[in-house]
Amino acid sequence: MSINDKIEAVREKFMTALESFPSDPIAIEKIRVKFLGRKGLVARLFAEMGSLLSSERPRVGKILNDVKRDLTAQFEKKVAAVKSLDKNRNDSHKNVDYTLPGYKIKTGSIHPIEQVTKELIDIFKSLGFSVAYGPEIDDDYHNFSALNFPKHHPARDMQDTFFIDPEIVLRTHTSNVQIHLMETVDPPLRYIVPGRVYRNEAISFKSFCLFHQIEGLYVDKNVTFVEMKSILEYFLRRIIGKNVNIRFRPSYFPFTEPSAEVDIWNSERGQWMEILGCGMVHPKVFGNVGYDPEIWKGYAFGLGVERIAMLKYDIKDIRMLYRNDIRFLEQF
Ligand code: PHE
Repeated sequence: MSINDKIEAVREKFMTALESFPSDPIAIEKIRVKFLGRKGLVARLFAEMGSLLSSERPRVGKILNDVKRDLTAQFEKKVAAVKSLDKNRNDSHKNVDYTLPGYKIKTGSIHPIEQVTKELIDIFKSLGFSVAYGPEIDDDYHNFSALNFPKHHPARDMQDTFFIDPEIVLRTHTSNVQIHLMETVDPPLRYIVPGRVYRNEAISFKSFCLFHQIEGLYVDKNVTFVEMKSILEYFLRRIIGKNVNIRFRPSYFPFTEPSAEVDIWNSERGQWMEILGCGMVHPKVFGNVGYDPEIWKGYAFGLGVERIAMLKYDIKDIRMLYRNDIRFLEQF
């Protein structure tokens, strides 16, 4: 092999090495030693000069010097490129402005109905009530008949009902769970029942076809109307405020006797707002669930969660609670 071929062979090997140039400094140094080191391939080419004719030496010497300069330059260029890549990587944090405000992470908020329900549950728990739930789709018996609404009785018109079929309804109140509870639990008992109820009513700022109630039922031997009244006043002051204006008004429900409704003064509108119905459990209801009305007394109440939320948060239209408008909901 002529010296020229040998030079070309070394150059080719070198170019291949550059193609997959490592970034690891030890591997880089290995390449340098292999080609440009004191005993490297280029140095060995120089060593072969000794076996050349003296007339050839100047020409080959010049070629070798050029090759060495060229390979060295190319090697250093590669090294510089690798280093600057590395430097960019290490310096990337310098491009971050730590004084910029962070990205705001949008978290959801608890719906006001849910918040008020939870608050009410906590208040009633502190008064010794347990929490129970019941069906939203129920039969006529639990929603009406067992609560002393006879068939075709005009009292049924108090609550415009969504029928699924003539015997199955979307419950119009949580009072259906009074019956379910007393059918399954022996007295004494003390429960609240949060849940959705449905009424086929004209929709307006104060009524919607769907809303939430919390039913209360307390059955024991010496339960009195006065006790009910004081408990209801107590929770209203706790949930809405100490100075809230409360009015008890005689009313009628088929399943309680005597019955009352409770209004709260809405100073914003300058009018009373009906917030709950209540009364002493009717002896006929006790009879329907097999409790002896001679032994057991009870009171029951059903309160509207939306109305309380509206008073508490000064919400002027019940429909806001069902629109899923983020601008409204994120305020809570
Ligand atoms: N269920 C009645 C209503 O929806 C409220 C109520 C509950 C009244 C319990 C008395 C006792 O209007």
